[in-house]
Amino acid sequence: MRAFMYLTVLGGLISSAQAASPTDFLAAYASQAKQESPAFNTPSASRGQHFFQKSHGKEWSCASCHTQLPTGSGKHQVTGKRIEALAPLANAERFTSERKVEKWFKRNCGDVLGRNCTAQEKGDVLAWLLSLR
Ligand code: HEC
Repeated sequence: MRAFMYLTVLGGLISSAQAASPTDFLAAYASQAKQESPAFNTPSASRGQHFFQKSHGKEWSCASCHTQLPTGSGKHQVTGKRIEALAPLANAERFTSERKVEKWFKRNCGDVLGRNCTAQEKGDVLAWLLSLR
């Protein structure tokens, strides 16, 4: 059931055969977050920055691999492999594939938080990434 949810984040907005854009993801996370919590207002770039840069009680933060300023490339903490910039304005391939985005959110949030990120957390992070140029 949860796997089904991950695959349908954008359900209704775009069909899986079409390319998605970062703003499609932002809109989908915002509406999902509102469903999860009616008090939720709108994704916040400053909340997203804080979430991305701080650690959450485990060894890594998002910034451990993606750096504090993800307009540039990062490096995997274990494999040492180069990771291209995460900010969409620095890397046009980011947030264009639902399969890829949800796969990596799931894995990375698991490593950093010990759980998947909520729709609000994803929307906040993306709002911040979209503000970087
Ligand atoms: C242990 C290293 C590591 C950590 C920590 C990490 N990431 Fe990643 N992340 C990766 C790798 C590796 C990829 C996939 C390779 C690539 O896309 O360049 C990736 C890809 C992604 C993508 C895919 C984006 C796209 O459209 O291609 C997103 C979103 C993402 N990470 C967000 C996060 C967030 C949010 C956090 C913190 C909760 C985080 N990452 C923490 C290593 C990490």
